[in-house]
Order: sequence, then structure tokens, then C-alpha cells
Amino acid sequence: MSIRSGRRVADALRTAGVDVTVHDVDADLVPALADTRPDLVWPLLHGASGEDGSVRDVLELLNLPSVGTGPRASRIAWSKPIAKTSVTRAGLATPEFVTLPQSLFRELGANRILDAVVAKLGLPLVVKPSRGGSALGVTLVQSPEDLPRAMVACFAYSDTALIERAVQGTEVAVSVVELDGEPVALPAVEVVTEGPYDYDARYNPGRTEYFAPARLSPELADKAAEVAVAAHRALGLRHLSRTDLIIDGDGQPWFLEVNVAPGMTETSLFPQAAEAGGHDLPTLYRRIVEDALGTR
Ligand SMILES: Nc1ncnc2c1ncn2[C@@H]1O[C@H](COP(=O)(O)OP(=O)(O)O)[C@@H](O)[C@H]1O
Ligand SMILES: [Mg+2]
Repeated sequence: MSIRSGRRVADALRTAGVDVTVHDVDADLVPALADTRPDLVWPLLHGASGEDGSVRDVLELLNLPSVGTGPRASRIAWSKPIAKTSVTRAGLATPEFVTLPQSLFRELGANRILDAVVAKLGLPLVVKPSRGGSALGVTLVQSPEDLPRAMVACFAYSDTALIERAVQGTEVAVSVVELDGEPVALPAVEVVTEGPYDYDARYNPGRTEYFAPARLSPELADKAAEVAVAAHRALGLRHLSRTDLIIDGDGQPWFLEVNVAPGMTETSLFPQAAEAGGHDLPTLYRRIVEDALGTR
């Protein structure tokens, strides 16, 4: 998937007259970067090393400027509980949660701790890996009997589970792009699935319906945009990001998570949002590159 994102962005940039070379992450990458010393690197990788800041660390080691969020802010954004705590400090609402490492869960006794979680947070709940993406290991839990199985599914992907209140409402993804150094929200994209927007829903055509722009009133669209820009600022993100939110029946947006490396394939949420905002993708990506180079 990251290869597809990379190729899409490279093709768009070439259309806009930018000289681009695409490189995989392999043993040749560091020598190639060291030899050719590109003016700018745009990492388009999903999953741990692409999003947890480690590839950014390598680029800093090589003294190469890059598009996107730096290593320190990436590490914060990559951890869902840390990102949630940070945005709460900035005044945003995020579902109440607990984190449970697998070891503690075992030591304390699964049933005792799960009873306490249900007593405190209520039902329904969502269980998900504290880090990661693609909705692997995410389960919506409606009744207490389903919680242990959800924990096991989650621990298959992560050694720490995040258990949070499920929010019912309209799910939207709000992409943010910095134009002339100012973060600006693109139109929200609404995601409609039965149940969570999980791995199956994401990568099987027809399981999910998208509305770009989202079917929100102008006031709610503004609120969603404000939350995404506030999260982008609070977490110290750079150039582009995507915030996942659910807006409940009272019109309250709830922050779920932020993505520092949003998908950029033709069906991904970021390009859908850019197009809904009237942006020509080659022109927009060229602007991002120019902003990152400081040549605008
Ligand atoms: N608290 C929640 N309430 C309701 N649905 C949720 C909640 N958290 C996650 N989901 C559902 O699970 C999906 C994946 O969760 P998310 O936090 O975005 O993780 P990731 O995209 O990194 O796997 C969301 O897109 C949403 O459909
Ligand atoms: Mg998400």
C-alpha cells in the first residue's frame, strides 16, 4: 500500500514538473540517499517505521530535509493514548479510555480488571491496539461476554490494548494541509460502514461508502475542521495530517486518532478530501514540496 501511495504522489509531482525518484526501503536506500543528496525526501510509508518517527530519525541522521512530521512529534502521534492525552490538554474531546498491557492484564486477572473497566466506562466499548493502523485488532464490544475475545484479538497485534468508550455518530476523516505555513482543513470525508471501519471494510471494495464532502451541516463541518487543525497544532504535526473523528448526536466531535502518513492512493481519504476542496493534486503536492523546501 505504501508503494501505491508513493507511486501516486510521484506521478502527480512529475505532472507538476518536479524531478522525482522513487525508492523502496531496502539496503540500497541509505547509500542512494547519501550519494544523490536529494533536495527533499517525501517518505510515504505506513505502519510502524513509517509513522513512529524512526524513518525520520534516519533522515535526520543523514541531514536530509523531508516532507511531513518530524521524528519527535511522529512518536507522540503514533501512540494513541499519548496523542489522546495531548489533545485533551489542548481542550479537545476524546473518548474516555484505559490502556492495559498484556502482562498487567494477566497478572491482575482478566475477569477482575475487565469488570472494573465495564463498570467505569460502560458499554459499548472499542478495543484496539495502542499503536498501529489499518484497524487490525479493533473490535466493537457490545456486551461484557465479548470483551475477553476482543482483548485476545487486540493482543495479537500489540502488547498494549486501548479500551475506550464507543461513540455513535458520523465518522469523518479530516485532512489538514499547510499552505504557506498555515494549517488548513480540507473538506471532511464521511466514512459509512456497518460496524467499525476495520481492515475488511477498508480494503474490500463495496464494504464502505465515502462522502466527500461529508454530509454535515456547515456548523458541524466547521467544528470538525477546527478540531483537526487544533490537533495538528497541538501535536506539532507538519505539512499534512489526517485526523479521524466521530461526531455524536449532540454535534460533539470526538477525536479518535491522528495519522502523520495518511494514505495517498487514488481511493485514500486525503486525495478524496483534496479533490472535494477543489485542489488539483499535482498543484497541491507541488505546493507542499515548495513549502517544505521553503521556496515559496
Ligand atoms: N471510540 C470509538 N467509537 C466508535 N468507533 C470507533 C472508536 N474507535 C475506533 N472506532 C472505529 O474503528 C476504526 C479504527 O480506529 P482508529 O482509532 O481510527 O484506528 P486505526 O485507523 O489506526 O486502526 C475507526 O475508523 C472507527 O470506525
Ligand atoms: Mg484511523
